[in-house]
Parts: sequence; C-alpha cells; structure tokens
Amino acid sequence: MIIAVDGPSGSGKSSTARGVATRLGLQYLDTGAMYRAVTWSALEHGLDLDDLAAVAERARAVQLSISTDPQRAQFAADGVDVTEAIRDPRISSSVSKIATNLDVRAELIRRQRELIEASQPTGGAVVEGRDIATVVWPHAELKLLLTADQEARMARRKAELAEGAVTADQLRDQIVRRDADDSTVSQFQVASDGAVEIDSTRLTLEEVIDVICRLAKEAEAAS
Ligand code: DC
Repeated sequence: MIIAVDGPSGSGKSSTARGVATRLGLQYLDTGAMYRAVTWSALEHGLDLDDLAAVAERARAVQLSISTDPQRAQFAADGVDVTEAIRDPRISSSVSKIATNLDVRAELIRRQRELIEASQPTGGAVVEGRDIATVVWPHAELKLLLTADQEARMARRKAELAEGAVTADQLRDQIVRRDADDSTVSQFQVASDGAVEIDSTRLTLEEVIDVICRLAKEAEAAS
C-alpha cells in the first residue's frame, strides 16, 4: 500500500506521515528532504542557484542516501550526513528555488518513483510531499491532503524552533513567503482526484494519525 500525504509547510505532514508509517509498519519517504539535500549540495559546490542547468546537473550527479525507516530520519548526500544541515534556515530559504527548477523535479521524481517501487515488496510506504498524489504516484491506494490554518501552522513551526530564536513577525513572514514560493511550483496542484482533505487545525497529532490509519484499513479492505 502506498499512502500519499501532500500539504503545505507546517501542516504537520512529517510527524503525521512518520506516525502513520510506524503504526502500520510501512516505510516512510520524505520527498521534501530530497529537495533540501540537492539545495545543500548545490550550495556546497558554490553554484549560483539561478543557473538552472548547473543545478539540474548537480541534482543528477549527487548521490543521495535516504533512510526510509520512520523511526530513523537520516539523509546523506555524497557520503556526508546532512540530516541536520538540511533543516538549516539557509537551506529553508533557498529550497523553493531548487524545487521550481523543472529539470531538478524530473530527476527527483524519477528517484522517488524508484524508492516507492523498492518499498512495495515490504508492504509499501507513506510518502509525503506536495505533488505525490498528483504527479509522483497518482495510483496511491490512499491520497491525503493535510491542511491547517496559517495560525496553527505558525504555532507548530514555533514550537519546533528554539525558544526565542525568531520573532512572531519573522515566523509569519516565513510561512507566508514559503506558501507563496511553493505555489509557483507548477506541479503543485492541491486538487487531486480521490484525495481526502484533512484539516488538522483542531486535531491532535494522535487524532490525525487515528483518522488516517482508519482510512488506510478501509482502503485496504476495498482493494
Ligand atoms: O516539506 P519541506 O519543507 O521539507 O519541503 C522543502 C521544499 O521542497 C519546499 O519548498 C517544497 C518543496 N517540495 C516540493 O516542491 N515537492 C515535494 N514533493 C516536496 C517538497
């Protein structure tokens, strides 16, 4: 079973997808981390991120090693552990540039499909991103669109950051700007055939995971 979890930044996608994968014994694929790892590699090589061809070439060349164990988030790029580095604000503020490079997308989508195929013999995966149900894996047995209102997403992002590290205005700016940047990704179509939208604004993480696990059981029974 492949479960696609799409949604904007701060919607709780990662914690939710990881929780669902753990409970259902599935693998977990964080596709955003792949865009982040390419960003890290491009910056590490001193590339101008506006040089689309050079960045696309880097995306094709970089060796990515991605843990699909939901209990163990670990990413390496060209043999360097970048698990923490890819969460750096320097990466967060540049990644939209990489994600809107269509040749980079083509390469990463190809790699994502390979990883999803590789998960099938062990039961499948929960795959999180922006375009999983629309582009990467439209045949997913369960397609979810996770949303939350802007205030809730800001509160969650704040809880993730060190106390006092950013001001409320900076946080709002980050979320609003990221939404605007991400919406320019042409493949990011929020409406996907058969996707179930879950608004997590007033739900706890455990409640969202419960809902998805129930939907997964129903989807399995129906297939
Ligand atoms: O979910 P995240 O914040 O780690 O995503 C990082 C960036 O990658 C963000 O700008 C959205 C983009 N992204 C994308 O375009 N397509 C995906 N499948 C996943 C992420």
